[in-house]
Amino acid sequence: MKKRNIIENVYWLGAIDWDRRLFDSLIPLPDGTSYNSYLIIGSEKTILIDTVDPKMSELLLTQLKDVKKIDYIISHHTEQDHSGTIPVVLKKYPSAKVIATEKGKEMLVDHLLISPEKIQIVEDKEELSLGNKTLKFIHTPWVHWPETMVSYLVEDKILFSCDFFGSHVATTDLYVRDEGLVYEAAQRYFAEIMMPFSNIIRKNIDKIKDLDIQLIAPSHGPIYDKPSFIIDAYKDWISDTPKNVVVIPFVSMHGSTRAMVEYLTNALAQKGVKVHQFDLAVVDIGKLAITLIDAATVILGTSTVHAGPHPLAVYATYLLNALKPKIKLISVIGSYGWYTKTIEQVVSMVPKLKGVEIVEPVYIKGYPKEEDFKALDAMAEKIAEKHKELNLF
Ligand code: FEO
Repeated sequence: MKKRNIIENVYWLGAIDWDRRLFDSLIPLPDGTSYNSYLIIGSEKTILIDTVDPKMSELLLTQLKDVKKIDYIISHHTEQDHSGTIPVVLKKYPSAKVIATEKGKEMLVDHLLISPEKIQIVEDKEELSLGNKTLKFIHTPWVHWPETMVSYLVEDKILFSCDFFGSHVATTDLYVRDEGLVYEAAQRYFAEIMMPFSNIIRKNIDKIKDLDIQLIAPSHGPIYDKPSFIIDAYKDWISDTPKNVVVIPFVSMHGSTRAMVEYLTNALAQKGVKVHQFDLAVVDIGKLAITLIDAATVILGTSTVHAGPHPLAVYATYLLNALKPKIKLISVIGSYGWYTKTIEQVVSMVPKLKGVEIVEPVYIKGYPKEEDFKALDAMAEKIAEKHKELNLF
């Protein structure tokens, strides 16, 4: 892809990674992704905003072929999908300075082995003049690492947001045109990497709320020419109030746990509670994470393996604890053969879910019997009551 003009003297550069299916060896990318870089040519200074994943460095260099000088490379975020090509760009433009937050500088030295004297620190709200254009830096930690910042091109009203507001989508659309696709991709991105920092993200949104923004240019996915589309979505995702939703991630070895999950799903649905059920043996973990954004309740379904939860349930529980969704209720259902310590082990794995109420688990020996289904009815009743108490209906 060649560089693309956004407005006069502001260009999209970057790489579209159509085939990437996994990020950080963890996060599924069903729609691929892009690494967006931006070139701004001011009357005095030329700057490059972020770079691309190092495996696609050549594409960026090709796009920069006719660019004679770069004065500054802005590093919003040290993660290698954005900063990994900075050393290559510095080789081509040896007099360029890299601009980062103080923490960003430390991390660029640690992770990219960039010489500290090449890096200039910018403070929160500091401005950089390019002559006829001004770039203002706004520190926005934890979107996605502690060093992250965004920048605002004052005269043209463009916010360059890096991971913040990004979506993992490979597309030739320069601007968001398929809102459904981008919404889900941005939601997946938020759920997987930003949800644990919802409180800090709220503060970051406050920091940009008074800017007059015409375009949000993230470093993944298309540019937002209707900024409220993604800002409003983020406001919804970071809200403290969950929705009338139960998520049931489960794994069943011989059908007993599955029978309980099916029964509970139906019992909840009959009471007007929305349920998302995920078989952990085949789940897209990103879809599961998305549903956790709104969930008020999580019920883990697991068989017993060697006296504890099934390893797939351990994985899901670990993620639940790490992602810290705003859930209010949690419990476990499932079945064991002759002995189990599953409940104790699952409860010990979620120390970060402070203040979450534990509903009496239904953990039974063998295949569920009449009294077990009654216990599941009682669980469904308790969940529906609590959701009503929380005004989620
Ligand atoms: Fe797109 Fe946190 O890197």
